[in-house]
Amino acid sequence: MTSTEDLEKLIPELQWIDDEDLKEKVIRVWIEATRRGGWNNVQEIPFTLSFKNSGTLIEHTRRVAKLVKSVASQRDEEINMNHLIAGALLHDIGKALEYEKVGNEIRVSEYGKKVRHPISGANLARELGVPEEVAHIIESHSHEGDKMKRSKESIIVHHCDFIDFELRRREVEGD
Ligand SMILES: [Fe+2]
Repeated sequence: MTSTEDLEKLIPELQWIDDEDLKEKVIRVWIEATRRGGWNNVQEIPFTLSFKNSGTLIEHTRRVAKLVKSVASQRDEEINMNHLIAGALLHDIGKALEYEKVGNEIRVSEYGKKVRHPISGANLARELGVPEEVAHIIESHSHEGDKMKRSKESIIVHHCDFIDFELRRREVEGD
């Protein structure tokens, strides 16, 4: 069972959310997704099964949070930093439901074959009272969002997510 204290230690970027209520909701979504996905250890959830040795979801989530923060700091547009950081920290939370651990094997779950992580993550976030602006970032961060009008915050998360995906894949697969 994952606790709030565990998550605050594992994901120090949670402190960048300058709104206690939103931060608590982000933590609650992580805990509930981990529980519903049957994960005993939150650090076992993989970043992706699209390539081998991708590392953990927490590592990827932290890298994306750092990327979005640095991009936003270089822009003049008005960007909602709380929504941006919460969106970065939750964008892939649906992977806790899309993937499952059975014995020593991590695979796509039956639920995950039907519902991809942007949708399951956004639905869970909405269920737990996360603001719609953040649910939108989760729902639209991947290809699902290509047909939607992404918010400014979602555009940033979308691109930073793919920067990390491509670079991490290159890192582990080599040139
Ligand atoms: Fe991601």
